[in-house]
Amino acid sequence: MTTALVILAAGKGTRMNSDLPKVLHPIAQVPMLIHAMRAGSVLSPEHTVIVTGHGSEAVAKVARAEDEGAQITVQEDQLGTAHAVAQARSALSGFEGDVVVLYGDTPFLQPDTLERMIEARSGNDLVILGFEAADPARYGRLVMTGDVLERIVEFKDASDEERSITFCNSGLLACNAQLLFSLIDEVGNDNASGEYYLTDVVEIARRRGLNVTAVACDEAQTLGVNSRADLAAADAVFQARARAELLDLGVTLMAPDTVYLAADTVVGRDTVIEPNVVFGPGVTVESGATIRAFSHLEGCHVSRGAVVGPYARLRPGAELAENTRVGNFVEIKNAEIAEGAKVNHLSYIGDASVGAATNIGAGTITCNYDGVMKHKTTIGENVFVGSNTMLVAPVTVGDGAMTATGTVVTRDVDPDALAVARAKQENKPGYARKLFDMLKATKARRDKKA
Ligand code: UD1
Ligand code: CA
Repeated sequence: MTTALVILAAGKGTRMNSDLPKVLHPIAQVPMLIHAMRAGSVLSPEHTVIVTGHGSEAVAKVARAEDEGAQITVQEDQLGTAHAVAQARSALSGFEGDVVVLYGDTPFLQPDTLERMIEARSGNDLVILGFEAADPARYGRLVMTGDVLERIVEFKDASDEERSITFCNSGLLACNAQLLFSLIDEVGNDNASGEYYLTDVVEIARRRGLNVTAVACDEAQTLGVNSRADLAAADAVFQARARAELLDLGVTLMAPDTVYLAADTVVGRDTVIEPNVVFGPGVTVESGATIRAFSHLEGCHVSRGAVVGPYARLRPGAELAENTRVGNFVEIKNAEIAEGAKVNHLSYIGDASVGAATNIGAGTITCNYDGVMKHKTTIGENVFVGSNTMLVAPVTVGDGAMTATGTVVTRDVDPDALAVARAKQENKPGYARKLFDMLKATKARRDKKA
């Protein structure tokens, strides 16, 4: 069975109180919409249609960055969930497979739940995803007779008896695409909200004698995000889950609650992560590495046996080979640090390559930016870069070379050469004493006047 995803993402998300469209707010540093798209990707959809409204252009851009083929349709006025799904009609014209409708603001959906919905489709024309709600609040209620779903009543339209039902509508459904559009054609807006409810397709299908059922999942998967508080809570749920996964995989987290992970963080077995480490998107850490306390990593790769931090910052494009050392107050951006090389203290290495077994002294800076363009610094193998060296890029330091402490390197350094570029030191005997005496006398004269 071929499937198409329709992801509803037109809502304004008023309660987010934000200029950013709701579905672009990140959880674990990945927009909610992308979480939904990734969950849906388990079905290998032939079409992914995103129904946008508020902030349509921004939403489209993010969706296409994740999936070039994503089809964007704009719902100009948000007249309800049925009206939203109807916007996908032209994108899916002639499509004979199933449609699975997802919300862009329910990021916790698990892939196997979607698979179970598709399985349930074999005996049913329409499948709804429901959940037992701890607090059913304002969710739509599923009115069941045995396994048959008779209809869904929105909270606003429900009787007291119906409100006592705790089996609720998640909003997700699976149905043949053309059948769904024909059911939606019959949906009206004569209800408490004056909206076109997608939930009405259930009763319409039953009237046509079609088979409708509900598949259940746990409530955590259907958690929606409507406010910043929800967003924070959702992030916390995600973090707890991701930390537990890492622990299961054999990663040591010394203080799990203080490690902040991204949705795509990959960490190998026997790696130790100390307290207060933040992972931005795109980080891979191999086995047996150590990420020491208070480090911040994004878009980087740390190889086996490397030690990072404490207080290190690895920015996008930082590539650390095996057994490298990146110490405190060191920032690395778009730079390869080859096997066994060390950058231990207070340095900035950007747009650079550092050869194997090279030692970068404290306070070294690659001056990679001239105010307009970025330039590259190439440092060979077994180089000793003296403390407080400024490497003014573009510049190359050959294998086995050395730079003297405090050197400003503006020209290439040949292999095995020593570069020294600093003012010569001169010592003047007795001068310090004379200078002190002079200064003290000046101060005494001033104090007397005052
Ligand atoms: C909906 C369901 C309710 C269910 C609940 C689960 C209906 C009528 N009700 O209610 O049974 O328990 O979800 O969270 O479907 N959207 C659009 N365009 C629109 C309207 C909505 O794209 O015109 C999108 C929203 O951005 C959101 C989703 O559809 O992602 C759900 O809309 P929302 O208004 O939150 O529905 P609820 O009233 O919560
Ligand atoms: Ca909602």
